[in-house]
Amino acid sequence: MTLRTIDSLGPLAGTRVVVRCDLNVPLKDGVITDDGRVRASVPTLAALVEQGAKVIVLSHLGRPEGEPDPKYSLEPVAVRLGEVLDAPVAFATDTVGEDAAAKVAALGDGEVLVLENLRFNPGETSKNEAERTAFAGQLAEFADAVVSDGFGVVHRKQASVYELEQLRPSAAGRLIAAELDVLDRLTENPERPYVVVLGGSKVSDKLGVIEHLLPRVDALLIGGGMLFTFLAAQGHKVGSSLLEADQIDTVKGYLADAAERGVDIVLPTDVVVAASFSADADHEVAPADAIEETPFGASGLGLDIGPETAAAFADRIRDARTVFWNGPMGVFELAPFAEGTRTVASALTEIDGLSVVGGGDSAAAVRQLGFDESAFGHISTGGGASLEFLEGKKLPGLEVLGWQ
Ligand code: 3PG
Repeated sequence: MTLRTIDSLGPLAGTRVVVRCDLNVPLKDGVITDDGRVRASVPTLAALVEQGAKVIVLSHLGRPEGEPDPKYSLEPVAVRLGEVLDAPVAFATDTVGEDAAAKVAALGDGEVLVLENLRFNPGETSKNEAERTAFAGQLAEFADAVVSDGFGVVHRKQASVYELEQLRPSAAGRLIAAELDVLDRLTENPERPYVVVLGGSKVSDKLGVIEHLLPRVDALLIGGGMLFTFLAAQGHKVGSSLLEADQIDTVKGYLADAAERGVDIVLPTDVVVAASFSADADHEVAPADAIEETPFGASGLGLDIGPETAAAFADRIRDARTVFWNGPMGVFELAPFAEGTRTVASALTEIDGLSVVGGGDSAAAVRQLGFDESAFGHISTGGGASLEFLEGKKLPGLEVLGWQ
């Protein structure tokens, strides 16, 4: 590991430092519903401001199709950044156009400017290397040095994450350094018992990580929408719950592999089944092997793990010395289906060891359910990035910073 850090860039006062952050936050009607990633960008940005650098912030927001789309504008994010930095933050209405160029030129020492969404430009996410390099070249016009600090996006080979870093002296910011510090402890000799809790809707999103973790963990606890594919693989009927029928055979393979290795894959014994997907739907707790025996029959929807399962998961978590949790246990956004996620989150705050929350949804759940963030060992800003890191994949945005 030879991650280049900001210090390697030398004195930065008076220089233009382009910082690639991941300010891809959830927005509802133009209002930020979880500002975790904005706050996580502060240590690096504040340090650069303190040094008197001219700070130019880059980020993507959502997945616009390579052209401006007002609903993905970074302007509200720039406003929030000003609030959390407690400093004026300017905003350019384009990324590499006239407004950006004029505002970069006018930037004073210790001032901060956010450029409009990188993904309004096709070169950012282009599959064609020459197009990415050309766009990175335009961004590099604004930079004497580049700091890469968007941990959530280091698994993407995109112009601002990979090509730009090769065009100017570049280094990792404090957020990336802090994330790697913790996530590395999960891959290098984690203290045992090591328990991983996986939730979220899709098994197919978690295939790589399940395969990679099975030989390394003591127990894998499965909740969230993906649990129904596991129940189906055990031969149970799951009503109208989320099911990835094409993953059933893969999941059967995992169950067999885990049994052979002596790893516990802990599956729910009860689930909360609802008549429909809404906060005021009728719902009741059903045994995991009798989901269709509620009054809702085959149209019943499993929307959370049940209380018996949540208690059993919490026991396994509390006994562990290392826990990684990715993916909510149920539809936590709807109050009647938030208990499983709440119980799991609460158990993570009680462990005597390292607890890591990874993934945008679980991190948002922790905050929306009112937990004190400092009660967890670490809340990662990376969803896909933290999973791919744990899968042992080489991530382009880290390799380019010297990480091996
Ligand atoms: C994320 O939210 O995981 C990151 O910001 C990356 O976003 P992307 O999946 O759209 O590349």
